[in-house]
Amino acid sequence: MRQTILTGDRPTGPLHLGHYAGSLATRVELQHSHATYVLIADLQALTDHADRPEEIRHNVMEVALDYLAVGIDPAVSTIVVQSGIPELAELTGYFLNLVTVARLERNPTVKDEIRQKGFGGEIPAGFLVYPVSQAADITAFKAHLVPVGTDQVPMIEQTVEIVRRFNRIYGSILVEPKALVPRISRLPGTDGRSKMSKSLGNAIYLSDLPDVVTDKVMRMYTDPRHARVEDPGEVEGNVVFTYLDAFDPDRPGLETLKQRYRAGGVGDVALKHHLIDVLHRLLAPIRARRQDLARDPEQILRILREGTERGRAVARDTVAEARRAMHLDYQAIIA
Ligand code: TRP
Repeated sequence: MRQTILTGDRPTGPLHLGHYAGSLATRVELQHSHATYVLIADLQALTDHADRPEEIRHNVMEVALDYLAVGIDPAVSTIVVQSGIPELAELTGYFLNLVTVARLERNPTVKDEIRQKGFGGEIPAGFLVYPVSQAADITAFKAHLVPVGTDQVPMIEQTVEIVRRFNRIYGSILVEPKALVPRISRLPGTDGRSKMSKSLGNAIYLSDLPDVVTDKVMRMYTDPRHARVEDPGEVEGNVVFTYLDAFDPDRPGLETLKQRYRAGGVGDVALKHHLIDVLHRLLAPIRARRQDLARDPEQILRILREGTERGRAVARDTVAEARRAMHLDYQAIIA
C-alpha cells in the first residue's frame, strides 16, 4: 500500500527558499509515489496572529499560489485549508488530555519561538499548545511521513508521544509518523543567522523579482577573512556555499568551485554571481507559473475547496474512529 505524506505551512507570508529546501522540494518529488496531503495551517497562524485575520486569509492564497507554482500538482496531491476541517480542532481537544503543560513548555522549537517573538509573560495558550494541534493535523490523515526542516522535528517527536499514549489507552488506531528531513535541513538566512524567516527579515521569497534576489545575494554574509581574491576562503559555514549545496544542480562543478575557493583565487563577487545564476534558474519558472496562476483566483479557490472537501472526508473517518475508541459515540448509547 502507498504510504501517506502530510505536511504544511503557516500562512503568515509568501513562502521562501527555506521552505523550498526544507520541505517543498521533497513534496513535489514524492507526490507521485505517496498519497500526499498539504495543509495550509491558518488556525496555527492565528496562534500568534490572532489580531490579523485578514492578513492570514490573504496569505492562504499566497501560499496556495506558491504550492502550485513549485509544482505541487492538485491532480495528485490534496491541498487542504486547516480551518475548513473542524474535525482537526476536535481531535486537538482530545489530544490535549494526553500531554502535560510541562512537556509543552519543554518543546525546544516553541521555546525558541517564544523567545524570538518576545511574548514575555504573555504567551497565548493556543500558541503553547500548537504542537498538539499539529499532532492532530498529522494523525487525522494517518500520515506515515512528514517532510519538514529540522526546526519541525520536535513537533513530530511530540506527535509520536501522543500517538503512543492514545493507542495504549484507547486501542491502536493512530499511525506513528516519521519526520523526513532533507540533506540541507535548515537553510540559514541571508544574514548568516541560523534560520531563514520572515520575522527575521532575512528571507529570499520564491516570488521575489530577479533584481531583488540579486540584491539580497550581493549583501550576503561570506567569509570575513576572505578580503582579497587571492586569499584562501572558508567553505564551511559560508552562507553562499550552503545555498549552493542546497540548490546548485551541478554537483561536480560545485566541488571544483569549493576547491578553488579554499585554495584562493575565487572572489566573493564571482562566487555570488554564480549563486545568483543558480537561483535565477530555479526561480524563473516558479515565478512565471505563479504570475500565470495569479490571473485566475477562481481556479485557486476551486482547488482549495475541492482539496479541503476530499481531505475532510479522511479526517472525519479518523475522528469517528477515535470517538468510538474513546467511548464518545453517544449516539450508540442513546440508540
Ligand atoms: N508548524 C509548521 C510551520 O510552522 C506548519 C504545520 C502545521 C505543519 N501543521 C503541520 C507542518 C503538520 C507539518 C505537519 O511551518
